[in-house]
Amino acid sequence: MNGNTCFSALKERILKDGKCLEGGILKVDGFINHQIDPDLLEQMSVEFIKRFAAVEYNKILTIEASGIAPAIMLGFLLHLPVVFAKKKKPSTMDNMLTTTVFSFTKNRSYDVCCSKDFLKPGDKVLFIDDFLANGNAAKGIIDLVQKAGAEIAGMGFLIEKSFQHGGDYLREQGIKVESLAIIDSLDNCAIKFRD
Ligand code: G4P
Repeated sequence: MNGNTCFSALKERILKDGKCLEGGILKVDGFINHQIDPDLLEQMSVEFIKRFAAVEYNKILTIEASGIAPAIMLGFLLHLPVVFAKKKKPSTMDNMLTTTVFSFTKNRSYDVCCSKDFLKPGDKVLFIDDFLANGNAAKGIIDLVQKAGAEIAGMGFLIEKSFQHGGDYLREQGIKVESLAIIDSLDNCAIKFRD
């Protein structure tokens, strides 16, 4: 198993319930982004556990909102703490690490932050998110983890859109990246998976 292999249960579900929108967007809100299928989430988490079995990590890190569900499921199965980076700085919290992320999909920048109480020097974090597109959220997370003096043990995504090349960047950095479904093209609203 490696980061180039599709997990068949997810691939089949995308084919059954996923919808292509203009602009290379895959809509999966019937089972990931709005309504959530916990059974599929559990299967995907078990797959992440297998793929990251040789990696040492003590914490799951994600970014709100859609990363939280898969991260929680993984943390629950492994009995590891789950931290989510926040997109709004809480007024009640100092001691924050902050970075700025540009979203291509939304064409705007936003700040992402995390408390130093929950991301600490020596932490080895497995980052989990729903989509890997251009990789800007992942780059922001790398910056936060570096600022914390922590370490990225690996990055796991439910769906990678390889044509937006965030995955190329992360793998070039030497990060172990695992994506459970890799989509090479959504041209003409046809979903083309990598095998
Ligand atoms: P990037 O982080 O990989 O660079 O992605 P980008 O800025 O392009 O994406 C911004 C948001 O859109 C992210 O969610 C990302 O997960 C989501 N996204 C990207 N491509 C797709 C797609 O094809 N389908 C769907 N459904 N989502 C996509 P976000 O703004 O952080 O939203 P949320 O986590 O709060 O839901």
